[in-house]
Amino acid sequence: MPAKRPRKRPISSSASAKSGSATISHKVAQATISSYHTLLKQRSALNRQLSKASGSAENDIQARLDKINGQLESLGGIEAYQHASVLGQSSQRGGDTSRVLINWLSELGSKPSGSGTSKPTKLKMLEIGALTPDNYDSCSSWIENSPMDLNSRHPDILEQDFLQRPVPETEEERFDIVSCSLVLNFVGDPTDRGRMLKLCHAQLRSRPSSLLFITLPLPCVANSRYMTHDHFKRLVESIGFTLVKEQWREGGKVACWLWRRREEGSVPAEFGSKKLLNDGKKRNNFTILVGESR
Ligand SMILES: C[S@@+](CC[C@H](N)C(=O)[O-])C[C@H]1O[C@@H](n2cnc3c(N)ncnc32)[C@H](O)[C@@H]1O
Repeated sequence: MPAKRPRKRPISSSASAKSGSATISHKVAQATISSYHTLLKQRSALNRQLSKASGSAENDIQARLDKINGQLESLGGIEAYQHASVLGQSSQRGGDTSRVLINWLSELGSKPSGSGTSKPTKLKMLEIGALTPDNYDSCSSWIENSPMDLNSRHPDILEQDFLQRPVPETEEERFDIVSCSLVLNFVGDPTDRGRMLKLCHAQLRSRPSSLLFITLPLPCVANSRYMTHDHFKRLVESIGFTLVKEQWREGGKVACWLWRRREEGSVPAEFGSKKLLNDGKKRNNFTILVGESR
């Protein structure tokens, strides 16, 4: 288990962070987030093409990839994206989703209570895609959180690609809760999204009390040609989860789900390939593909 924590300059809880102190409007933040996602998806598609191309086609794809990398850079790179996301966390998307998870854990009675004079054992949590290290500080008496991110903005956030994170071999190393909030939609490749869900399963302790928290922008399930609420729920269930809680509203920004871990399932072939579920010019192409292998 790599425990390398880069020493980085701490940030304040405001949106300034690594990208400088400039204040940006919600409109600009939203535009940055959506352009960034579009470019990431285009880059993933080109990388897939590149792996199969040769000769002049290869050069052509490489040139298009260079152009996209340049555009990502001009947007301000991942720092600008995270800066915009922090702003979104505050209000635009209805606030920080950690509050939803905390409320649900309380409702479910998941908060451990000590017996007699003994101190309760804390719930061990992995937070994938943590923009700040303190999202769960208010619960530090009962949650031991391990925040991590592809691009750490604080010394207490482990910098790591979750897709490369070693799968734990012991129950001790595994987690009671994995939070994957607004991360799946960042991953450009649908197969990698499916792999991410399977890896979330592998990070959880093999007990029914283990929980997976997922948040997605609502349009990913409400306005995609290749994904619906029902398809998404059946797909996650097939990996080895049972839905416990769900929250979204018509016209809202995000949807949140809480899943209980069960034994790994055998994923039906229907979730391994892209299938048109809703046609329409104004729809997006978000999808998740799940193969058999972990
Ligand atoms: C929109 S932010 C989400 C922040 C926060 N979790 C929330 O709910 O508002 C997405 C974050 O996920 C991180 N991320 C994306 N892919 C990742 C990966 N493979 N491993 C770790 N972090 C990842 C990005 O770097 C980014 O900071």
